[in-house]
Amino acid sequence: MTSLLIKNASQVVSPQAQVFRGKELGNLIVERDASIHIENGSIRAVGPFPELETAITNETTIIDAGGRVVMPGFVDSHSHLVFGGNRANEFAERCRGVSYEEIARRGGGIASTVKAIHQSPKEAIKKQAHLNLRRALNQGITTMEIKSGYGLSKETEIKLLEIITELKEEQPIELTATFLGAHAVPKGKNKTEYISEVLEMMPDASKYAQFCDVFCEEGYFSAEESKMILEAGKKAGMLPKMHVNQFHEIGGIQAAIEVGAVSADHLEVMNEQGIDLLAQTDIACTFLPGVSFFLNIPYAPARKMIDAGCIPALATDFNPGSSMTLSMQLLISMACTQMQVSVEEAICASTQNGALALQKSRVGCLLPGWQADLLILDTDNYRNMAYFFGENHIAAVIKKGKLVAQLKESA
Ligand code: NIG
Ligand code: FE
Repeated sequence: MTSLLIKNASQVVSPQAQVFRGKELGNLIVERDASIHIENGSIRAVGPFPELETAITNETTIIDAGGRVVMPGFVDSHSHLVFGGNRANEFAERCRGVSYEEIARRGGGIASTVKAIHQSPKEAIKKQAHLNLRRALNQGITTMEIKSGYGLSKETEIKLLEIITELKEEQPIELTATFLGAHAVPKGKNKTEYISEVLEMMPDASKYAQFCDVFCEEGYFSAEESKMILEAGKKAGMLPKMHVNQFHEIGGIQAAIEVGAVSADHLEVMNEQGIDLLAQTDIACTFLPGVSFFLNIPYAPARKMIDAGCIPALATDFNPGSSMTLSMQLLISMACTQMQVSVEEAICASTQNGALALQKSRVGCLLPGWQADLLILDTDNYRNMAYFFGENHIAAVIKKGKLVAQLKESA
């Protein structure tokens, strides 16, 4: 049995178990001057040190939080972390005023990364992914989803899913794979042809991927096509997720509801009807403020959606084109200042609600019986994480009860 006691936390912060939406979402549990006892990777108790002290044995490792905050590890439920090369030059063009959509029309964008993937040996792709996973861990991400989608051929899509599966065993972040064969239509193929290929990839993809995703957008896949692809994904055993309403409303929300999507992601362009429809479902509405910031497009109407009763999740969308960040802390800050989300709601959206978007139970809260994925921050007040923006506040990362990253010694 392994036993770990973290003592002397100024605040132990946690969402309330199973509270995913509504006014209650903002009511974080904040235990002051508390300790946490962890056994075999799960939290056994949270409370004042004298109450937990009796459980200490010779085998117990003790970590002194040094009067700092302890909170759940971040669950990043939407990323494209496995990619080749980078798009720094396209970024420079965008800074000169060329739009993301224009770059895609010229043959750049997703197609550039697809080209880079096709030119990179598997080991090089993996090396870059490892580097980025280490960055993610150091930013406090303890659970993460990664999509394929830069292969766009059977061989390379499966290769990307294989890489994600190998990465699961090779580093501490808990990974979930998503098949995003329908990310774009590859150059030189017509869409009908490519959709049939995506359908043919499904049986193999489902050996690796828990979820199937589609980029439902003008110029990519229509609502009808998305539904058909996701239904086929379901038949192959993959749960549906969707990129919807990033640039245009093309009926993606209806499609997400009809297909029973686990999450609907992006949602930058929303009308009242779409908000009301989503509010009546259990679909996690995943906001990706990094994209709005990076592409200078509108932010999703998160405040309106939370008030309407939608389930908010917050994720990086880490990818080389539209969101080159792994800082959930910065995204929390953006959610607060740009989307009028409270710090407390943003924390819930990036922990327990992210876990919901990945269908993971007992992840994202610091409560007895929950998985011991937690962060020690370098501050005594959790609100500093959003307030002092652009700073990495992570001092230490604990995954399933094991110290997996130590960035700052105790204060
Ligand atoms: O989630 N929206 C589509 N896909 C990614 C961007 C992909 C890229 O530009 O490489 C996204 O924003
Ligand atoms: Fe994405």
